[in-house]
Amino acid sequence: MKLFVDTANLEELEQCLQRGFPSGVTTNPSILSKEQRRDFREHINDMIALLMKYGSDIPLSVEVFTTDPEEMLAQAEEFCGHFGHYPNLNIKVPIGWDELAVIAELRRRGIRVNCTCCMSYNQAIMAARAGANYVSLFWGRIRDIGYDAASVVRGVHQTLRGWGSASEIIVGSIRHIADINEALQAGADILTVPPKFFPQMCGHPKTDEAVQQFVCEFQKWQGAAPPLKKVA
Ligand code: E4P
Repeated sequence: MKLFVDTANLEELEQCLQRGFPSGVTTNPSILSKEQRRDFREHINDMIALLMKYGSDIPLSVEVFTTDPEEMLAQAEEFCGHFGHYPNLNIKVPIGWDELAVIAELRRRGIRVNCTCCMSYNQAIMAARAGANYVSLFWGRIRDIGYDAASVVRGVHQTLRGWGSASEIIVGSIRHIADINEALQAGADILTVPPKFFPQMCGHPKTDEAVQQFVCEFQKWQGAAPPLKKVA
């Protein structure tokens, strides 16, 4: 199981990198649009600089921002030109009939692909068959329309493992911590999680209680000296 960070925020990314747990980073045009407006190439390069500062070569996914397949190919090549110095760049391409040709062509060119916006079993299977390195299933959005995200992930997991596919399942669109636990149990290889959830994932009221108790009892036992009184 791997945890990716679903962010384009430099501060949050650095906080995660400092803590050593991320196995990858995913962005998308919407996530980027939440950051201060600037040339997105500079922004991605700042993300890459942070990854390199922490000696990291974890996969970084950057998504095309067009619906035209020809433009997708051109953007993917442009991304490789701008960000190709990073050793683990992945181009995010949404699933679709014409998009499948983009995925297959990028793979023929040796470019790694994260096929995104998959909402169904069949979409994920098609993406994997076209050669996508990652197949991203959107847990929260699948549930938004009343489908059982767990059974979609479970089905994709069983089929991909059954044929020995090298594609890995990323589950994104995480809305609650329970989504993470359920998606892992359903067979997700990777969870991509908004940074706001990570501190919560490390905390527990019983942990706070235990730590407080240990420190207090030790201090009492050591007879922590009261602060010296001021002499008038
Ligand atoms: C995954 O790669 C996507 O960036 C993300 O998880 C999409 O989730 P959303 O439903 O919050 O847009």
